[in-house]
Amino acid sequence: MELTKKPMLDAVRGIKQTRPPVWIMRQAGRYLPEYRKIRQSVSGFLELCYTPKLASQVTLQPLKRFDLDAAIIFSDILVVPKALGQNLWFAEGEGPRLDPLDLKGIEGLSRIDFLQNLSAIFETIDRVKTELDSNVSLIGFCGAPWTVATYMLAGKGSPDQAQARLFALQEPKAFKTLIDLLVDVSIDYLIAQFRAGVDVVQIFESWALNLDETSFKEVVIAPNQRIVDGVRKVIPNAPIIGFPRGAAGMLRQYQLETKVSMLGLDYAVPLDFVKQHFPSDVGVQGNLDPLRLVAGGGQMSERVDEIIAGFSERPHVFNLGHGIVPQTPISHVEQLVNEVKGI
Ligand code: CP3
Repeated sequence: MELTKKPMLDAVRGIKQTRPPVWIMRQAGRYLPEYRKIRQSVSGFLELCYTPKLASQVTLQPLKRFDLDAAIIFSDILVVPKALGQNLWFAEGEGPRLDPLDLKGIEGLSRIDFLQNLSAIFETIDRVKTELDSNVSLIGFCGAPWTVATYMLAGKGSPDQAQARLFALQEPKAFKTLIDLLVDVSIDYLIAQFRAGVDVVQIFESWALNLDETSFKEVVIAPNQRIVDGVRKVIPNAPIIGFPRGAAGMLRQYQLETKVSMLGLDYAVPLDFVKQHFPSDVGVQGNLDPLRLVAGGGQMSERVDEIIAGFSERPHVFNLGHGIVPQTPISHVEQLVNEVKGI
């Protein structure tokens, strides 16, 4: 396979790198004072997402500080329900809020102006692209249908996704309509991001936990697989990272059936489990506990070394096992990136 000069992209394409490339989930965000400053200049988080001039600046902020191998477009997974017409807002300090969907609400969703409603995101991609170093990969993303549906049905985040799980069991027809719609628009959205200039996309299945085997196959594996297939029909071999957080015993089946290019691992996945269950051509991304980065020092360095050694025989992109948290000290992030780079 031909090399691209972008180590992170090449790792996702299955080419093992001497040192793992590194980026950090949620790398643009509240732990950075320069983010908080721009964030305070706008009325809310969503305004930031829909203002390409600012969103592109924020996307690039972490790369000015740290020697990262990728930038991820600053946006949110919930711009998709908003683009389908569902009301979305971010209550200060409380996270996302939506008018919860009922049967009628599902019927009322419309994909007519879907991509036009997301034009700001494509403009952000275009702006970022022109400013990135040629060896830095640009990552686009979407939420996976199940994860996005949990917010659409409950109107907010929840620890056990009980509302969405119950809805899926009690209203299977309406639930299928919703998931099918999300699969279709996610395919369009990811293709449009590739066309606008991203190198790689990540599908965030942040709520792949709390599901039994039957539900997991139905609500996680099948929709993710359809998205990968749908995108690759138009963009052959599209590099796609799947991140099914909490998939646990279903991880191997997820990887085999979805055929994602690289598997994102949460921090609960043991290194030896990966060795035992995944042949060495399966690339992985992860998987440091974000709180180890908050605490820093020796315990962090030791675990970083273990992770790098544990995945040394396969393509590996170093990352956290979930998003960086706001109280993370910047000096710890510097230390982490230097350690991964072997400095
Ligand atoms: O990674 C990046 O730097 C790119 C931007 C990005 C954001 N959200 C910015 C954001 C990405 C990739 C996401 C993904 C996302 N959004 C997920 C999947 C990943 C995960 O963490 O599991 C989910 C579930 C969401 C939905 C969402 N957005 C929640 C639950 C919240 C509130 C919790 C929180 O961290 O505040 C958000 C808000 C959000 N998304 C912020 C940022 C920087 C904070 C908002 C602010 O600045 O006020």
